[in-house]
Amino acid sequence: MSGTVIKPLRLAVLASGRGSNLQALIDASESGRMDGKVALLLTDNPNAYAIERAKKHDIPFRIIERKDFASRQAFDSAFADAVEESGVDIVALAGFMRIISPSFLSRFPGKVINVHPSLLPAFPGLDAQKQAFEYGVKITGCTVHFVDEGVDTGPIIIQSAVPVLPEDTVELLSARILEQEHIIYPKAVTMIARGEALPPEKFLARMNGLVS
Ligand code: GRF
Repeated sequence: MSGTVIKPLRLAVLASGRGSNLQALIDASESGRMDGKVALLLTDNPNAYAIERAKKHDIPFRIIERKDFASRQAFDSAFADAVEESGVDIVALAGFMRIISPSFLSRFPGKVINVHPSLLPAFPGLDAQKQAFEYGVKITGCTVHFVDEGVDTGPIIIQSAVPVLPEDTVELLSARILEQEHIIYPKAVTMIARGEALPPEKFLARMNGLVS
């Protein structure tokens, strides 16, 4: 019998905080729901709870702190070097609190993805759930997208809509959005592994052309 062989993707996850999306990716991998495996956690925060999650699942992790580097550029290069050394297929941002530089992106064109708690392009940036709540939208949600040099911009892979309920608070709404993030992030990885989500040619050309 012949069939398409799907190669599970190896992921580097970049996280700065609690790491619930890291956990969702680990869980989906371990239960066979995702065509991918978390091969490395990279963090800029030695106190990130994400580190505890990695330890618990025997996932290698590295802490790279800004204070140990003279320049932003040297710090970025250290992250990119760590990703390159690990030989991963995809870099998944999961609550990574730093802007990804063009020089980092140019080393992994079309291979960096992010999860964001709004229906992009609405409400990019920090506190997206609060921004949506305060604007008064009736539907918000979350997005997984390929990362470009902007803030929460780049080609969209998958989205999930979450209604804003009359009795909602920012906290309740955020919790329901987070549940959806945990569903769509592993799905996005599987879509990429299966060739169902490809970075557009024009986008790739642009990422390849970023000056390092
Ligand atoms: C998530 O809401 C994600 O969309 C945003 O940062 C948050 C990270 O949460 N980019 P966690 O660290 O994965 O729990």
